[in-house]
Amino acid sequence: MKRANILVVFLTLLVLNGSAQTKKPLSTEEAKMNTFISNLMAKMTVDEKIGQLNLPSSGDITTGQANSSDISKKIKEGQVGGLFNIKGVDKIKAVQKIAVENSRMKIPLLFGMDVIHGYNTVFPIPLGVSCIWDMATVQKSARIAAIEASASGINWTFSPMVDISRDPRWGRISEGSGEDAYLGSQIAAAMVRGYQGKLQANNEILACVKHYALYGAAEAGRDYNTTDMSKVRMYNEYFPPYKAAVDAGAASIMASFNEVDGIPATGSKWLMTDVLRNQWGFKGFVVTDYTGIPEMIAHGMGDLQTVSALALNAGVDMDMVGEGFLGTLKKSLAEKKVGIAQIDRACRLVLQAKYKLGLFTDPYKFCNAERAQKEVFSPANRQVAREVAGESFVLLKNNNNLLPLKKSGTIGLIGPLADNTANMYGTWSVAALFDQSVTVLQGLKNALGNNAKVLTARGANFLADSTMEHRYVNIHNPTYKRDPRTEAEMIKEALEVAKKSDVIVATIGEGSEFTGESSSVTDIQIPETQKNLLKALAKTGKPVVLVLFTGRPLALNWEQENIPAILNVWFPGSEAGSAIADVLFGDVNPSGKLSTTFPQNVGQVPLYYAHKNTGRPLAEGKWFEKFRSNYLDVSNDPLYPFGFGLSYTTFNYGDIKLSSNTLTKGKSITASVTLNNTGKYDGKEVVQLYIQDLVGSITRPVKELKGFQKVNLKAGESKTITFNISENDLKFYNSDLKFVAEPGDFKVFIGTNSRDVKEASFTLK
Ligand code: NOJ
Repeated sequence: MKRANILVVFLTLLVLNGSAQTKKPLSTEEAKMNTFISNLMAKMTVDEKIGQLNLPSSGDITTGQANSSDISKKIKEGQVGGLFNIKGVDKIKAVQKIAVENSRMKIPLLFGMDVIHGYNTVFPIPLGVSCIWDMATVQKSARIAAIEASASGINWTFSPMVDISRDPRWGRISEGSGEDAYLGSQIAAAMVRGYQGKLQANNEILACVKHYALYGAAEAGRDYNTTDMSKVRMYNEYFPPYKAAVDAGAASIMASFNEVDGIPATGSKWLMTDVLRNQWGFKGFVVTDYTGIPEMIAHGMGDLQTVSALALNAGVDMDMVGEGFLGTLKKSLAEKKVGIAQIDRACRLVLQAKYKLGLFTDPYKFCNAERAQKEVFSPANRQVAREVAGESFVLLKNNNNLLPLKKSGTIGLIGPLADNTANMYGTWSVAALFDQSVTVLQGLKNALGNNAKVLTARGANFLADSTMEHRYVNIHNPTYKRDPRTEAEMIKEALEVAKKSDVIVATIGEGSEFTGESSSVTDIQIPETQKNLLKALAKTGKPVVLVLFTGRPLALNWEQENIPAILNVWFPGSEAGSAIADVLFGDVNPSGKLSTTFPQNVGQVPLYYAHKNTGRPLAEGKWFEKFRSNYLDVSNDPLYPFGFGLSYTTFNYGDIKLSSNTLTKGKSITASVTLNNTGKYDGKEVVQLYIQDLVGSITRPVKELKGFQKVNLKAGESKTITFNISENDLKFYNSDLKFVAEPGDFKVFIGTNSRDVKEASFTLK
C-alpha cells in the first residue's frame, strides 16, 4: 500500500472510531425493542412488510378523492398499518380486534385523527392559541386534547401543524402559529410535549408534525400551490418550527403536498433524508399527506410505480390513502427500483412507533370507555377551554375605554354569529359537539342574569349570494341555515334592536369553513353584506363593539376607522360564548398578541415584520417617496403589526438597560426594562425582545423576535423584566448554510409589539 493510501485508511479508521465513540449507546429499552422488532420482521413476508406502510382512511370523514373500500378484508390480509378518521372506542376496538386476532402477524394498528385543537372539548383554532404567547397554556391545551382523544381510541394525532405562513389568503393559515419562526418553534415544541409526554401512559399519543415542508408558502396563497424559495430563507425562516418539533421528540412527520426546490416534498430525498434524518437526527417515521404519492403523477414525476419508488427511496415510510406502496412496491423490488433495505427501514420505523406506544403489550390500551366517560368533555376540561379562549382574544381597538361593558342596561347582540353553535369552532373540529357549544347569546345571558337585557337579531347572512355562501360555510358540514329574508329586511330588524339598545355587540366575520384546507380567498375583507350591516349599525350613533370571528388576518381599514372597539376572537371553540362574555364584561382582561401581521389590504401581502431593508428603504416616518421601495396608493405599514394587542389597562416601558455593551463569544449579557401597569386594571403583558444584526455576510431582517415573557401585573405595579442574550441568539444560517454568529454591531429592541419598542445597541466581539 502506498504511504498516501495508508494515511487515508488510518484517518478513516480514526474518524470511524471517533464517531463510534461519540454515538450514544443503545439503552436497554431500545435494545429490547430492536430485538423484538427484528424477531417480528424475520417472520414477515414482503407483502406484510409493505402492508405496514399502508394507511387508508376509514371513510368516516372524507377529504380528497380517494375511496378506500373493504378495509377489514385488507386488515385480515395484513395490508394495513393504521387507519385514520375512525371515531369511537367501540368501533376502534372492533377494528383493532380484527388486526390482532384475524391477521397472520397479529400486529396492532395505529389509529390517527386530525385532533388539531382539541377533541370533544374544542380549544380556539391554532392561530388563536398562538396569540397566547404562554407555552404552559399551549402545552396544556395539547395535553387535554391527547387525554380526550386517547380515551376515545386515538393514538396518533396529525398535529402540530407548524407551517409558517405570511399569506392571509391561504385558508390554512388558521391551522398554524402565524408568521414567525421563533414563536412558531416554541409552540411546535410545546405541542409535541403536550401530546406525547413521555409516550408511556395511556393518554400520551404520537404527534405528527406537518406539513414538511414550506406548505404555508404556497404561491398566491392558493392551497396546494407551488412554493419556491432560497435555501437561506428555508433554513432561517421556515424550517425552524419543524426542527424544533423534531428536537422535542416528535414521533412522526407528514410530508407536504407542495414541491420544494422543484421536487414534490413527498419525493424529496433532500428533505426526507438529508435534512430531516441526517442533519436534524429525526428518528421517527414519515407519512405522506392524503394521496401525496399518486399526486406526484400530476406534478409530472412519472407513473404510480415510479412515484411510489421515489417516495420510499426519498425516505417516506407510510402512504396515506394513495396505495402506491401497496400496489407497486413489490414489483419495484423485483425490478430493483427499490431495495429490501428501504422497505425494511420503513416497516421497522412504523413498528417502532407501535412498540413505543405499547400496542404490542396491550393493543386496546387506548380504548377505555370508562375513561372516555369521565375524562372527555369534563367540566374541568371545558373550564380550561374557556380560559384558553379568553387568553387567545386580541383587542385591536378600544376607543375611550368602551370595553369592558357594564353588566346593566340593554345590549343589542347582532350578527350571523350571535346565536350560532357550529361556527364557533373553526376548521378541523372533528369531534366537536355542536349541540353543546355555548353560543354568544347564551354566554352573555349567563353572565348577565337579570342585571341586563340582551336583544338579538341576525342582521345579515354570512354572504349575500346563496351559492357562494354554501361554498364558504356548508360544504364540509351543513352548519348554517340561511335566513331567507333580503339584506334590507334583515338590516331593518337589526336597526330596531339597535334603537332599543344602549350598546351594540356586532358578532360578525367568517364562518368555520371560510378557512382551513382548500379555503383560499383573494379578498380578505369582511363580506359586503355583513359590512353593510356594520355600516348601518355605526350610523345609529350607538356605541358598537365588533366581536370579530376570523381564521385569517383580515383587512379592516374601514372598521378601524369607524368602529370604536374591535375584539378579535378567532374561533374560540366549545366555550366560545362564556369566554367572550368573560372578556366583554372585564372578568378577564384581554392579553392576546397577534402572531401574524394584519395588512391594510390584500395587495400588500406578503407583509411581515421581519422583512429585509432593501437598498432603498423609506425614510423613518414617510409613507411615500419616489424611487423608494413602496406603493403609490398605500403605505408600507400594516394595519396591526405582529405582536400587537391591547389591554383594558395600560403598560409603560422604561428604557432598556444592558448589563454591558459588549457581548463576548461564550458569554451572555442581559437586557432589562421596567414595566409599569399604569392603568386601572390588573393585566397581563407579553414583553417582546427583538434583535437586529446590523451588518452580515448575508442581508439580515430589520428585526427578529428572540424572546418574550408574559407577565402579570396588578394595577399600579412595576416589575423589572430581564432577558439574557447570548451568542446563540445571534446565530443564523449563512450562505453556506452554516449556523453562525458574526461579530459586529446589533440593536436590541424591547416593547409591547414589533413596532412600538425601546432600543439599545451592543457589539458581539
Ligand atoms: C389532508 C391535510 O392536508 C392534512 O393536514 C390532514 O392531516 C390529512 N388530510 C388527513 O386528514
